[in-house]
Order: sequence, then structure tokens, then C-alpha cells
Amino acid sequence: MEVRTGLMLFLVFMILQKGEGQLSETFYSKTCPKLESIVKQVVANKISQTFVTIPATLRLFFHDCFVEGCDASVLIASPNGDAEKDAPDNLSLAGDGFDTVIKAKQAVENKCPRVVSCADILALATKEVVAQAGGPSWKVELGRRDGLISQASRVAGNLPEPNATLIQLNAIFAKNNLTQTDMIALSGAHTNLVAKKGLFTSDEVLFTNPASQPTVIDFAQNPGDFNAAFITAMRKLGRVGVKTGKAGQIRGCDASVMIASRNHDAEKDSSDNLSLAGDGFDTVIKAKKAVEAKCPKVVSCADILAIATRDVIALAGGPSYKVELGRRDGLVSQASRVAGNLPEPNFNLTQLNTIFAKNNLSQTDMIALSGAHTLGFSHCKPFANRLYSFSPSSPVDPDLDPTYAEQLKQDCPPNVDPRIAVDMDPRTPRKFDNVYFKNLVVKKGLFTSDQVLFTDPASKQTVIDFAKNQTNFKAAFVTAMTKLGRVGVKTGKTGEIRVDCTAFNA
Ligand SMILES: *[C@@H]1O[C@H](CO)[C@@H](O)[C@H](O)[C@H]1NC(C)=O
Ligand SMILES: *[C@@H]1O[C@H](CO)[C@@H](O)[C@H](O)[C@H]1NC(C)=O
Ligand SMILES: *[C@@H]1O[C@H](CO)[C@@H](O)[C@H](O)[C@H]1NC(C)=O
Ligand SMILES: *[C@@H]1O[C@H](CO)[C@@H](O)[C@H](O)[C@H]1NC(C)=O
Ligand SMILES: *[C@@H]1O[C@H](CO)[C@@H](O)[C@H](O)[C@H]1NC(C)=O
Ligand SMILES: *[C@@H]1O[C@H](CO)[C@@H](O)[C@H](O)[C@H]1NC(C)=O
Ligand SMILES: *[C@@H]1O[C@H](CO)[C@@H](O)[C@H](O)[C@H]1NC(C)=O
Repeated sequence: MEVRTGLMLFLVFMILQKGEGQLSETFYSKTCPKLESIVKQVVANKISQTFVTIPATLRLFFHDCFVEGCDASVLIASPNGDAEKDAPDNLSLAGDGFDTVIKAKQAVENKCPRVVSCADILALATKEVVAQAGGPSWKVELGRRDGLISQASRVAGNLPEPNATLIQLNAIFAKNNLTQTDMIALSGAHTNLVAKKGLFTSDEVLFTNPASQPTVIDFAQNPGDFNAAFITAMRKLGRVGVKTGKAGQIRGCDASVMIASRNHDAEKDSSDNLSLAGDGFDTVIKAKKAVEAKCPKVVSCADILAIATRDVIALAGGPSYKVELGRRDGLVSQASRVAGNLPEPNFNLTQLNTIFAKNNLSQTDMIALSGAHTLGFSHCKPFANRLYSFSPSSPVDPDLDPTYAEQLKQDCPPNVDPRIAVDMDPRTPRKFDNVYFKNLVVKKGLFTSDQVLFTDPASKQTVIDFAKNQTNFKAAFVTAMTKLGRVGVKTGKTGEIRVDCTAFNA
């Protein structure tokens, strides 16, 4: 009896040990059985929106594991700008990697709330991007918990420098229990899978150093060897400094970026809106920080965004104007409420007018606000149909100037890299002026929804007026911006003054 109880306790202890303290491929088989397919779906969807998802997610995983271990510390946003992702090395971390994890986490939380760590989701998403880019697939060990430390100051020296020697590379990988072969396999993944430029074009040192050259040649000649070594290395990478059992926590993968990317669903006309999101978002965060330092908890993020928008327009040479203030921040931010509320690049005049009218904006307001396309750029996808598949009889949209169409075709060949972008105003892309309207008059509107403002007789005269008379355009723009700033505002006791623009107040 005594012995049996002892043995049972021992077995229970062993099972607990395994369940609590170690990574396992079946860690969530009971608590979140659909985990893999949920992540796979989100990743596939995200890759279809932007190819950058692939390198961005891989790199994010690597950076995360090498600093504090694979514990999602890289996802933390700090109001002081001193979290891990704020370190100078973060510059290569594209917003799309973060967004992939956020979206996958959101989908997972819907099915199995508070069960799966951000660190595991990043590990799974990384396997998915590799597999969906044509690389190998493998079983991911799971059971990581999210770390409790994320400090920019702890990044330096933990990531390989682009100019590192072989000895330096080996040393930094060895610190993470990775061999030279692991290191070469992981480096190879970067160029081979992602850029599809063949192995090691940038990592010269791996080829030139006789100590690593044979491995490089082997991997270059034997994809099977490379894939096997890559899988081994990725599994080992996924074990670096992991927290399991009772260490760390299961966390939301950063509410901030979530709200940020939802706001930036406003960048409707880009399949790569996520890369545009970062800077606009960052502008508001920085302005809010500066404002909080002087007058804490007084000014809403909504007002700061309205002011910052006015300021960027003025700095680009556009009109300046007084901004009405007193907005409060909303309490709802849901991606599902975006669809149907933003104009699409292929809209006709009726559709444009309808969607602006819903927001108390007239056709003249709509035309003036479209003039904001005097600044900024677009990826190729939203207008590719105008170059290649407009209609059976005319592949190129006849409302597009032939010379401009030729130029756009050169910038945006079929199957163009989705990262390529072109200026929306080909003449003065950095100046806020009325050249956008002059372009429309000569059939150089980029989107269907731009050109239609000139081709439709109901709006043509306004376009001609704005093209001829910059003063009229600027005055109409100020009127429209002021009206835009009144749309659905919360005032008085509704909403709140957010402390952190990226998260609802607790
Ligand atoms: C990257 O780090 C720099 C400071 O080194 C910071 O200014 C910037 O905001 C960070 N970028 C992101 C996207 O976190
Ligand atoms: C690599 O570049 C960094 C900064 O550019 C420099 O500090 C470092 O010494 C360089 N390392 C080598 C091995 O050249
Ligand atoms: C490397 O492996 C050893 C032995 O398994 C382990 O104790 C150590 O924590 C590992 N180091 C890292 C950075 O994961
Ligand atoms: C980006 O744009 C695509 C297509 O226009 C849209 O489906 C997607 O929701 C947008 N994503 C974000 C985060 O803005
Ligand atoms: C605009 O598009 C809508 C939806 O496709 C269509 O019903 C309508 O007839 C179009 N209007 C014009 C003027 O082409
Ligand atoms: C622009 O239009 C206004 C009337 O709205 C007129 O007073 C002004 O002279 C025009 N300016 C030019 C340059 O035509
Ligand atoms: C449009 O204006 C009306 C009347 O001022 C107002 O009640 C309504 O809330 C406004 N709609 C939006 C979306 O701001």
C-alpha cells in the first residue's frame, strides 16, 4: 500500500512535471485542439494581403528567441518607448510580423481564451510562414509561457550584426545552444526561402570561410540536407530560454498594435496597409506622450489625431486651419465593424457619394478630401486591373493616359513584389497642392475612384475648378476636414480620455 501510494505519487509527479515543465507537441491537444488550423488560416490570409508577412514573422521569432528567450517579450509595447522592440535593432522588424501574431492570437482567443501563450503563437505562425513559402513543415513543440521582462537595453549584443565574422556568429548562436550547422541552416532560410535568391547571397562570410564553406555547399546542392538541418535548428531555436510551468504568464499579444491596425483599416486601397499603419500610429503615440507630460489625462487621442493631421498637411505645403476640439475617445474598436464603411478604389461616383453622405459629407467635400491623394503612395494591386484586365476588348482602362499606363506597367509588372509602391500623385508626390486634380484632367488618376471624379459629368466641373484654382481647393478642403472631424464624435460624458492611445483605459 505504502509502496503503491508512493509509486502513484511519483507517477503523478512525473506527469505533472511533463505537463508543466516541458515543451511538447501535444501541449494544447485537450485545451485548444484546433490551434494549428486556426493559426494556419490566419497566416494564409495575412500572406495573401502582404508577402512581407513571411520574412517579418520569421525575423520576429528569431529576435524574440535571442533576447530573453522565446517568450514574446518582443511584442510588448511600452508607453516609455523602452521595451525590447524599441531597441535600435528593431528597425528590421516590420509591422506585419507583429500583426500576424496579433491576428492569430485574436482568432485563437475566440476559440480557447487565455490558454495559448503569445510565444507559442509566434512559434506556430513562424512554422506556417515557412511552410506556406514552400519550405519544410514540422511539428512545433509547445507549452511556452510569455515572459515578464521586455527592455530595449537588454537587446544590444544578443543579436548577430550583419557584418559579424564567423567566430562572432558562432559565439552568439552557441550562447543559445545552437551549433554552427544550426546557424548556417537558419541563415540559409533567410535568403533561400524568403528572397528566393539562392543561398547565402548576403551572408558572404559563411561561404568564404573554409570552416563553414562545406556546409554551405552541401545545403546548396542538397535541399533535403538543408531542410532537415533547418527543421532541427528551428526546433532548437524554439527551445531557447523558454518559460514553462509556472514561470511567466499567458498574455494578450499587445492590445496596442491591435487597436492600431484596426484604426488603419482606413487604408483601404492598399493590400499592404499594414506597412503604412506604423508611421501614422507612431506619430500620434509620440504626440500623445509629449502632451501627457504637460497635461496628463486631459487631451483625447482623437483630438491629438485631428491636430496631428492638420499639422502634417500644413508641413507638406497644404493649408493650415483651426481644429475644433473636445472629442473623447471611443470604447469600441472592432475589425468586423470596418467593412462597408470605407470607400474602395474601384468605387463609382454614386458609391463614393453614398459612403460620404453617411458621414454628413457632400459631394464637394468628397472631391476635396480625395485631393489628399496628392500625397502618399499605393501598392500595385488596387489599380492592377486598370493595367492588365480592364475588359476583354481593352485590357488597359481607356480612361488612363497611355503614357502613364506604360509607366505604371513598368513600375508594376504582372506578379510584382507586393511591397512595390508608386506615388499617387506622379508629379509632386511630397507636396500638398492641387496637382492631383490637374492629373485627373489629363487622365492621370491612379484609382478608378480618382478618375471617375473627372469622367462623371456630375463631378467634372468641381474637378476642373479645383485644378484651375488652388485657393478654391484649399478652402473646400478645410471645410471638408472640419466636417470630417465632426463625424460621430463623442463629447461630454460619452467615451473616455485614453491614457495610452493604443489601449482602452483599464
Ligand atoms: C525602434 O526603435 C527606435 C529607437 O531605437 C524607436 O524610435 C522606434 O519607435 C522603434 N520602432 C518600433 C516600430 O518599435
Ligand atoms: C560591425 O559594425 C558595427 C557598427 O557599424 C561596429 O561597431 C562593429 O565593430 C563592426 N564589427 C565588425 C566585426 O566589423
Ligand atoms: C542551453 O541548454 C542548457 C541545457 O539544456 C539549458 O540549461 C540552458 O538554459 C539552455 N540555454 C538557453 C539560452 O536556452
Ligand atoms: C488591409 O487592406 C485589406 C484589403 O484592402 C483589408 O482586407 C484588410 O482588412 C486591411 N487590414 C488592415 C489591418 O487594415
Ligand atoms: C455604381 O456601382 C453600383 C454598384 O456596382 C451600381 O449599382 C451602379 O449602377 C453604379 N452607378 C453608376 C452610375 O455606374
Ligand atoms: C479662384 O476663385 C475665386 C472665387 O472662388 C476667385 O476670386 C479667384 O480670383 C480665383 N483665383 C484664380 C487664380 O483664378
Ligand atoms: C450627421 O449630422 C446629424 C445632424 O447634425 C447628426 O445627428 C448625425 O449624428 C451626424 N452623423 C454622423 C455620422 O456624424
